[in-house]
Amino acid sequence: MGGRVNGSAIQLIEQIGAGGMSTVWKAFDPSRNKIIAVKILADQYSSNGRDIESFRQEERVMEEIDSPWIVKAYAFEHVGNKWRILMEYVDGYTFSDLLQRKQHIKESDCLLICESVAAALDLAWNDHGIVHCDIKPENIMINSDGVVKLTDLGIFHRYDHSESKMEISEHVTGTPAYISPEQIYGDVQPDCRADIYSLAATVYHLATGRTLFPGLDNDATMRAHCDRASQARDPRCYRPSLSEGFCQLLEAMLVKDRDQRISSWKDVYEMCLEVEKGMRFKYRDNASQYPSSLKISSH
Ligand SMILES: Nc1ncnc2c1ncn2[C@@H]1O[C@H](COP(=O)(O)OP(=O)(O)O)[C@@H](O)[C@H]1O
Ligand SMILES: [Mg+2]
Repeated sequence: MGGRVNGSAIQLIEQIGAGGMSTVWKAFDPSRNKIIAVKILADQYSSNGRDIESFRQEERVMEEIDSPWIVKAYAFEHVGNKWRILMEYVDGYTFSDLLQRKQHIKESDCLLICESVAAALDLAWNDHGIVHCDIKPENIMINSDGVVKLTDLGIFHRYDHSESKMEISEHVTGTPAYISPEQIYGDVQPDCRADIYSLAATVYHLATGRTLFPGLDNDATMRAHCDRASQARDPRCYRPSLSEGFCQLLEAMLVKDRDQRISSWKDVYEMCLEVEKGMRFKYRDNASQYPSSLKISSH
């Protein structure tokens, strides 16, 4: 938690994002002498103790997890009647922005995104018991150096080992196009497998330009996630050049029954490397090493 007493010296420059409960600003922080991002809780939530507490938790967890692929939070403040999170500024854009400019993202870049998020969430899960619960293109950014940065831990779940039985949640949390079946059912504690499913739903969208179940409303989409009979189309229907290995990776991550799903981030990461190797044998005999950052042009 930040120790700043008077945070008012921070200069807001421009609004760069907005969600249901907050706005995000680019700002200059004189005490750190750098550009930062400031997420401000909207006024209508600023008097509700529970909303403030969950906003505080969001900051705490982003400060706790120290990964190059997760946006770092610096402090939580109450200044001028506003609650705000100070965090690392990502000089770049979200993959949702990118999808609006490009039809799809090529397989090798999708694999790097998958590897970066897997590495970030491996640390979050194994060291902190954290499930992100809202993995989607809007919440994954890429900075100007091509480094993938996961953001928005607004609805994270911290796994409680002592909690053998969980109460059925009152409402679904997550985003319909990417949510895992178990989050929709809400009858078990989500664990890393929920994020594995959502990451695959995200990567499917990035690689094909389509969501898993295009053309359905929210309720029908969620029924499709749960219903064994409704499987997403083979990604090669949209992009025939995708490799067999890549499609198998997505399939393994998208199994509806989490007990049958690929079940650890290490396995996901390893499988990404295997798929890359396959690509290398096929198309990239001369490629030596893979970059740790992406070279995606935004046009
Ligand atoms: N650290 C950051 N640096 C730059 N832009 C950011 C940062 N965090 C968020 N944004 C932008 O603001 C948007 C909303 O932020 P997010 O944390 O996802 O809020 P919400 O909880 O409202 O979805 C993001 O999709 C992104 O465009
Ligand atoms: Mg968001």
